[in-house]
Amino acid sequence: MSNQRVSRRQFLNYTLTGVGGFMAAGMLMPMVRFAIDPVLTAEAGGDFVSTGTTLEELSDVPTRIDFSYEQKDAWYTSEVTQTAWVYLDEQQNVVALNPTCKHLGCTVNWEGTESEPNRFFCPCHNGLYEKSGKNVPGTPPTAPLDMLEARVGDDGILQLGQTVPNTIA
Ligand code: FES
Repeated sequence: MSNQRVSRRQFLNYTLTGVGGFMAAGMLMPMVRFAIDPVLTAEAGGDFVSTGTTLEELSDVPTRIDFSYEQKDAWYTSEVTQTAWVYLDEQQNVVALNPTCKHLGCTVNWEGTESEPNRFFCPCHNGLYEKSGKNVPGTPPTAPLDMLEARVGDDGILQLGQTVPNTIA
């Protein structure tokens, strides 16, 4: 056992430091918890969003499908609406293309101009894409349209997911 004695001043210092630290922690904890809460919150659900469109409604002609989902950005939740051009290929697989032009980000339309049937047309700078999303050489876009992950749910409804690079162009 140590023979060192604690002076009255030291005892008061230790006690006040301990109590002060305890009180500070009590005040800071709720603030820290509030600050990092969105990071700690587990996300529910997967990355796929139901579009409300059944497989029977699709054909080999690209159809514009608008779908919405809730996007959580830390403390802010907003409803995002996204668009896809969707069709069935020869093997009846779903092809979903992101309509964002790879030139400067305008929205492309299927057969958007009479002079270019069977192609996607970007009205901003006359960009063209084949049905597969492949950019037509000699027009401003320098890369194919991106795709969206697609699957059919147990209810037969088409679900769309993340944007991914084009694998068919
Ligand atoms: S943004 Fe589409 S061609 Fe320029």
